[in-house]
Amino acid sequence: MSDTMQKNSKIFIAGHTGLLGSVLVKKLESDGYKNIITRPHEELDLTNQNAVAAFFQRERPEYVFLAAGRVGGIMANKTSPATFLHTNIAIQDNVFESATKTQVRYLVFYGSSCMYPKHCPQPIKEEYLMTGEIEDTSEGYAIAKTAGILACKTYNNQYKNNRFIALIPNSMYGPNDHFDLENSHVLSALIRKFHDAKTQGGKKVVLWGTGTPRREFIFSEDVADASIFAMKNTGKFMNMHYNIGSGVDYSIKELAEIISDIVGFKGEIEWDTTKPDGTPRKLLDSSRFLNFGWTPTTDIVKGIKTTYKWYVNNIQAGMH
Ligand SMILES: NC(=O)c1ccc[n+]([C@@H]2O[C@H](COP(=O)([O-])OP(=O)(O)OC[C@H]3O[C@@H](n4cnc5c(N)ncnc54)[C@H](OP(=O)(O)O)[C@@H]3O)[C@@H](O)[C@H]2O)c1
Repeated sequence: MSDTMQKNSKIFIAGHTGLLGSVLVKKLESDGYKNIITRPHEELDLTNQNAVAAFFQRERPEYVFLAAGRVGGIMANKTSPATFLHTNIAIQDNVFESATKTQVRYLVFYGSSCMYPKHCPQPIKEEYLMTGEIEDTSEGYAIAKTAGILACKTYNNQYKNNRFIALIPNSMYGPNDHFDLENSHVLSALIRKFHDAKTQGGKKVVLWGTGTPRREFIFSEDVADASIFAMKNTGKFMNMHYNIGSGVDYSIKELAEIISDIVGFKGEIEWDTTKPDGTPRKLLDSSRFLNFGWTPTTDIVKGIKTTYKWYVNNIQAGMH
């Protein structure tokens, strides 16, 4: 039987209710994949080694997208670093080991751009991993993700295959993102702040820092598309990790202006320069992946409009 993912292949999407997992399910279903398996967190806790082992033995998925993990904003990362470290390490360790024992054909794992050193030449190349100090606010999460990338390499080396594919998306956004104050990332937090100010008649939105740091964002559908592309082109991948970015970065000020415009906030934006800015720039060099012939297709305005529409519909429905 061919190693390439077929329309009737058994595909497990871990974390199918999340930002990335939800769009992976949607895309694979609309592409005609018929044998997708998912499990809600309440039914299968991926940090539970025995439960994960039993699930893989019973279901024997052929392809796995590991989009489950503990993800959060600066606040959550700062207050619960041990939870981020433990949860992500446990999930990936359990899934990697069970996937190996049950001979999953291919598995896509996701690292994060915050694994790279805080002060890195830009754009960030894959080889800069572990060449300098990382941002201390997300240390627990970043160390877990780095361990995951190294685990992919060591499993591939030991078992003499390239079964585990490691992708590093830059900051992702889209429907099903976190919008609560503790877990949101900058883009979703800005959507919420401008929306709240608009609906509550606020005249001013105060944002942290100078607005000058530059960040790269990628729409969740593009990351899902890149992941499916990877699964369909497994033969192209070497035993290394691959950055996935949109290739364009924006200052936080530019981003705030785009979002306030889309949301329709008419008031003033004030910058609280007594608050820290964080890393000046975080732009990935994704040429290693792009050279395979894949390109992202969603520009930021279209992506934020889609996300905002989802946010409005879902907060009205009482979700998130
Ligand atoms: N968001 C980003 O900007 C970004 C950037 C780069 C890489 N990544 C990586 O991409 C992957 C997906 O991220 P995301 O933003 O889609 O995350 P997300 O929206 O927070 O979704 C995480 C998913 O994992 C599930 N989950 C969490 N803990 C679990 C557990 N112990 N057992 C079973 N399921 C569990 C969640 O279910 P519940 O909600 O029910 O707990 C949810 O379905 C993660 O590995 C993340 O590190 C994300």
